Amino acid sequence: DGTLRMHAEERGKFIGAAIATSPLANETAYRNIASTEFSQITAENAMKWESTEPNDNQYTFTGADQIVNFATQNNQQVHGHTLVWHSQTPGWVQGLSATNMRAAMNEHIATVVGRYANNATVVSWDVVNEAFNEDGTFRQSFWFNTLGQSYIADAFRAARAADPNARLCINDYNVEGINAKSTAMFNLVQSLRAQNVPVDCVGFQGHLAIQFGFPNDIQQNMQRFANLGVQVRVTELDVRMQTPRTAAKDTTQAQYYTNVINACNAVTACAGVTIWGFTDKYSWVPDTFSGEGFALIYDNNYAIKPAYTAVHNALDGG
Ligand code: G3I
Repeated sequence: DGTLRMHAEERGKFIGAAIATSPLANETAYRNIASTEFSQITAENAMKWESTEPNDNQYTFTGADQIVNFATQNNQQVHGHTLVWHSQTPGWVQGLSATNMRAAMNEHIATVVGRYANNATVVSWDVVNEAFNEDGTFRQSFWFNTLGQSYIADAFRAARAADPNARLCINDYNVEGINAKSTAMFNLVQSLRAQNVPVDCVGFQGHLAIQFGFPNDIQQNMQRFANLGVQVRVTELDVRMQTPRTAAKDTTQAQYYTNVINACNAVTACAGVTIWGFTDKYSWVPDTFSGEGFALIYDNNYAIKPAYTAVHNALDGG
């Protein structure tokens, strides 16, 4: 009985979903599930730089406002995604000189974060997304190549200045378990906080695949970050499989969802879990990984899957 959000709220955690603006505008079934089952939402694309500032100093907040207004109407919070990333950032930014790039970054953060700073709905931001390579070195993005690693500290300082009340996260994928990449993230967060850079939160994206196995040390990993004094969260959970979808794969997938919710439940500093969508009808997976899919908790027709029941029961506590 009850919705996911009801059980999450009883635990003092959020349960979130990434939301796409087109079905939000056009499909009643999508809207109904989005509003009733989740307590927090993230714009899947609408708050990214290419969406909000496609040309220098020309801002468009149509999609971002659509997400924020929907959340406000449904008593939900919004996690802002994302300010500084190498992907989905317009070419005009990538070609700037160091001085101009730093200024554009600061100005973009001030404008986008500032727009929602007095809006109680938007409570947190992914300030820097995907800064690391798998081996723990810094990703050679145009940000890093032009500005060096100081772009990270600068981005957090700009976000804090734009909204002193927002929780500011650094976010990445393949950092759910303890490995070279998550350890690099750990060392960076520790060093930034030692320098009073306002990093409040670490986001583990959680793009899992049943054929790669489950990161069994996820709880231990979350806890080592929590011990640095930051909040932790799972920001983009999905569990893909190779086609065809079978009952056995659904069972494994459901177990992965259970494991992630249980890890967050067990770590006091874990604020909640956001799923990267909710219906297999709208998922980034088949567009990116040929022959893979079915990563979410509802099927293409908005029927619940075993993964939904798994999340429900893990939040409910049985
Ligand atoms: O909006 C255009 C549309 O006009 C055009 O007809 C269509 C044709 O390809 O493309 C549409 O844009 C797509 C956009 O999603 C909106 O649907 C882009 O091609 C597509 O690349 C883009 O993909 C997004 C991807 O980020 C881009 O990197 C996915 O929806 C989104 O789920 C995904 O999310 C990322 C997180 O932000 C960061 N972590 C990883 C995660 C998965 O890749």
